[in-house]
Amino acid sequence: MKEINVYCSEILNFASTAEISKIEKSIVDSYNKILLDTEYTGWVNLPSTFSHEELNKIKMCASKIRNDSDVFIVVGIGGSYLGSRAAIQLFQSSFADLSNQKPLINYAGHTLSSSYLSDLLEFIKDKEVSLNVISKSGSTIETAIAFRFLREFMEEKYGKEEARKRIYVTTDAKKGILKSLADKEGYETFVIPNNIGGRYSVLTPVGLLPMAVSGIDIDKVIHGAYDAMEKYKIPSLKENQCYQYAAARNILYKQGKKIELLVTYEPNMHFFTEWWRQLFGESEGKNKKGIFPASLNYSTDLHSLGQYVQDGERNLFETVLKIGETNSNMVLSELKEDDGLNYLAGKKVDFINDKAFLGTLLAHTDAGVPNIVITIPKMDEYYFGYLIYFFEKACAISGFLLGVNPFDQPGVEAYKNNMYALLGKPGYEKLRKYLENRLKDIK
Ligand code: PA5
Repeated sequence: MKEINVYCSEILNFASTAEISKIEKSIVDSYNKILLDTEYTGWVNLPSTFSHEELNKIKMCASKIRNDSDVFIVVGIGGSYLGSRAAIQLFQSSFADLSNQKPLINYAGHTLSSSYLSDLLEFIKDKEVSLNVISKSGSTIETAIAFRFLREFMEEKYGKEEARKRIYVTTDAKKGILKSLADKEGYETFVIPNNIGGRYSVLTPVGLLPMAVSGIDIDKVIHGAYDAMEKYKIPSLKENQCYQYAAARNILYKQGKKIELLVTYEPNMHFFTEWWRQLFGESEGKNKKGIFPASLNYSTDLHSLGQYVQDGERNLFETVLKIGETNSNMVLSELKEDDGLNYLAGKKVDFINDKAFLGTLLAHTDAGVPNIVITIPKMDEYYFGYLIYFFEKACAISGFLLGVNPFDQPGVEAYKNNMYALLGKPGYEKLRKYLENRLKDIK
């Protein structure tokens, strides 16, 4: 099995010996912190602790859903949906929405847009539907509101009894309003372990049930994650490329590179980059510190933001996800009348994409945008699981190197409190008055 390779040696080689030995020491400290923590690190050994019973239950439910549903709706936000959406987008045809693929996977609960929700309800009205509502807290407002509408839709369409058989709940084992509702209604329930935070939960039923419904081989995903877990155990900078990535981005951050662009050359990796952005953004952006994670899809974005990357503010670095081999074998033919492309006759489109990558790599590096390159032999289920684990571990280590807790997200409460107050939630009366006064001039 070919391995994922991380190229960042130039960045590490240019760092001073003192900086590298400081990082090496911090890596051992971070490693120990992860080992000792019991509150947040259930994901670390997860690939070796999955119960067969749980996996079988996921597969059985997935197979029922595949048999009796035209549409399967994943209802969740943030860590409760981005990982599975990343996998599903990666392994489905780019035109799955337009084909007769069954079940078609749709999403809800990740937005408060009423037009999105009403379009969805309209779209599914004559279809056979199942849904999986996913929320660790059980109280996230985006998810709860979408679920309220969808539950009403299901009960109206199927009656309470049949709706019950088509609603799947993934939530905490004991706590939360969703858990109480699931118990009361008798929905099939999956558990999010309490020591795994939302953005680290893709390899739990949170991600695995939707993936299995879409036809993804979840055993292979877990196998990849397991191999990555074994591979990236060693607390040594020299031998561990996952830690090298964490170290390189922290070195760049200290040099003023405050924005990391995760670059892909495959449009079907869009949601993978969304997942990654959430993982790193929520894990590191705190205490007025942290690299801002952004993502670009090349060569598409070379015709828009490429100008900025090449020539704008020099506070960027890029991490490129380079896929070694794709499933496609498209080759350019030779035309009798040359349209200017005959010099490429006989070449694969992937070859051309690769040269676009290499040309860009050199142009951007020369312009002061350092590049880290992560080469993935091919993007199948195994390497998806591997990469997920790679980034989770790198993110945890990176957060500790930065000096923040990579597992909490205190910052997301601020908007929620204001929103609850403005919505008139009981208990927020004083804050509501204060906020409404501040907002009086905004029409
Ligand atoms: O990573 C996180 O903790 C968050 O992104 C959550 O996943 C997100 O806010 C959804 O929370 P919940 O699963 O409680 O609805």
